[in-house]
Amino acid sequence: MTTLNPIPTTLIPGDGIGPEVVKATIAVLEALGAPFKWETQLAGMAAFNACGDPMPPALIDSIRKNGLALKGPLSTPIGEGFRSANVRLRETFGLYANVRPALTIVPGRFDKIDIVLIRENLEGFYVAHEHYLPVGDDPRAVALSSGANTRVGINRIARYAFEYAVKHGRKKITIVHKANVLKVLTGLFLEEARNVAREYEGRVAVDDRIVDACAMQLVLNPWQFDMLLCSNLFGDILSDELAGLVGGLGLAPGANIGKDVAIFEAVHGTAPDIAGKGIANPISLLLASGLMLDHVGHPELATRLRTAIDLTLNQDNVKTTDLGGKATTVAFTEALVKRLKSA
Ligand code: NAI
Repeated sequence: MTTLNPIPTTLIPGDGIGPEVVKATIAVLEALGAPFKWETQLAGMAAFNACGDPMPPALIDSIRKNGLALKGPLSTPIGEGFRSANVRLRETFGLYANVRPALTIVPGRFDKIDIVLIRENLEGFYVAHEHYLPVGDDPRAVALSSGANTRVGINRIARYAFEYAVKHGRKKITIVHKANVLKVLTGLFLEEARNVAREYEGRVAVDDRIVDACAMQLVLNPWQFDMLLCSNLFGDILSDELAGLVGGLGLAPGANIGKDVAIFEAVHGTAPDIAGKGIANPISLLLASGLMLDHVGHPELATRLRTAIDLTLNQDNVKTTDLGGKATTVAFTEALVKRLKSA
């Protein structure tokens, strides 16, 4: 067996079910022989509780040095408290492209889904520039939020999407917008994405959908879609819908890509309702680590990993409870490791 060069990688266990699914993922990657050399760092609530800062300098330094991180989910207080560490990580490292593939592994309500959603990660409403206006004795009488899409930012994400399509042999990109109502904010998104699309004419087909119609058509006929190009908030919402089409949040990976840094994560959050129960499905983070293997130039390991996950689910019939099975996180992980070792 050849020894692969070690790849220094920042590892963020995260909050809630994060440490459970991260532990499972590390065990599987070890069995696979993936050459990641982990540097563990805290972020989010775990870091806030440990040192009063959800984004400690040691975390930032480690990610900047390595240019690569695998991240468990981070919890964000609702309504009040510190700003989302996820959003701040994306901003700090200019992670402008969020890649979220949805692929059927376990045939369920919908079979043979294969859609890649590309989400703009740094602009739009999601950035949460918000404040209240007081009226009379109510300090929160009016809530204001502003979103900004820039031509430069739209051009960059559209170019990323079309280049991704060319590289991965994808045929069509659907631009998602609400340009009938938000004529300026999402009108510019549609206009500039179409400008970029023109450069790829004859190679990648393009169409567009208003976001609400797109959400409905994803349920009625998801097979008409190949790739979706979304602004930040619409991408956030539709990627959960895509996860639902392929069996839920336990099967949905994501990659946050910038010029110098890439952070890989599951689409799901900290799942506080099941944290500590040992029943979380680790597959989303495992698939995210597969995307990371592709990214660092080990597609053969990524393929072995995806095949072993498929066989563990569909031949060995070992599944966690969210997929209708009985396996705990540990039992699923052991079955997957056994599969990898026997391959
Ligand atoms: P969530 O994704 O944590 O949970 C939604 C539902 O899906 C829950 O019923 C949960 O049990 C289930 N679920 C999620 N992942 C699962 C898994 N791997 N296996 C089995 N079941 C799973 O979303 P929610 O409840 O809206 O958010 C909880 C916290 O997570 C919040 O603080 C939120 O800000 C944070 N969050 C963090 C994200 C990140 O770090 N990238 C992404 C989304 C949410």
